[in-house]
Amino acid sequence: VARPVPVIAIDGPSASGKGTVAARVAEALGWHYLDSGSLYRLVALAGMRAGVALDDEARLAGIAAALPVSFEGGRIWLEGKDVTEDIRAEACSVGASKVAALPAVREALLDRQRDYRAAPGLVAEGRDIGSVVFPDAQLKVFLTASAEARAERRYKQLMEKGMAASMESLLRDLQERDARDAARPVAPLKQLPDAELLDTTQMDVKQAVSFVLERVPAVE
Ligand code: DC
Repeated sequence: VARPVPVIAIDGPSASGKGTVAARVAEALGWHYLDSGSLYRLVALAGMRAGVALDDEARLAGIAAALPVSFEGGRIWLEGKDVTEDIRAEACSVGASKVAALPAVREALLDRQRDYRAAPGLVAEGRDIGSVVFPDAQLKVFLTASAEARAERRYKQLMEKGMAASMESLLRDLQERDARDAARPVAPLKQLPDAELLDTTQMDVKQAVSFVLERVPAVE
């Protein structure tokens, strides 16, 4: 019997650094990488550009099913346009969190996410990777940090890009989004009993990457 392609599922709240950690783990292992949040961000962006209300479940599910996206050269393309930066804008973060609460949208994105499972392995990050998308993942990590630490990291990133920001409003937005992602009835963010807790409040990226890599031999 062929063994299933191994998956490492890294779930956690906004701005926890799971994207950076997951991408570096994938690079270190030479495995594929899936940033599932980008799919929800793309649905929100495509919806807003088409003038679709962000609670119009049927139309948004249609957009999600047909999403003309490609991940080429480390950039994200929607209908042939580079939207790598656009999908990180605050309006898209808020929009993504709204469309992600719609069951038909989540359903429409399932197969697309599962298609990323290919040899030699996949590192996937999001909110429901270990619970819904790949419940049979060989390693599950719940990567988090205090809301204050996450707001501070986001603040520093924005400062480095020369963008204006206030700590208070960043913290408030994060907490609102956390609440929405955790309280929704479908695929809410939660720590699974079989997930390893990785709290990075007092850790740098390198330490967090090592934490995951140290647990990989068990999955191979
Ligand atoms: O990880 P992120 O901040 O890019 O995710 C954007 C939004 O999408 C966030 O509000 C949570 C949602 N999301 C989700 O519901 N399920 C996933 N697997 C990934 C993201």
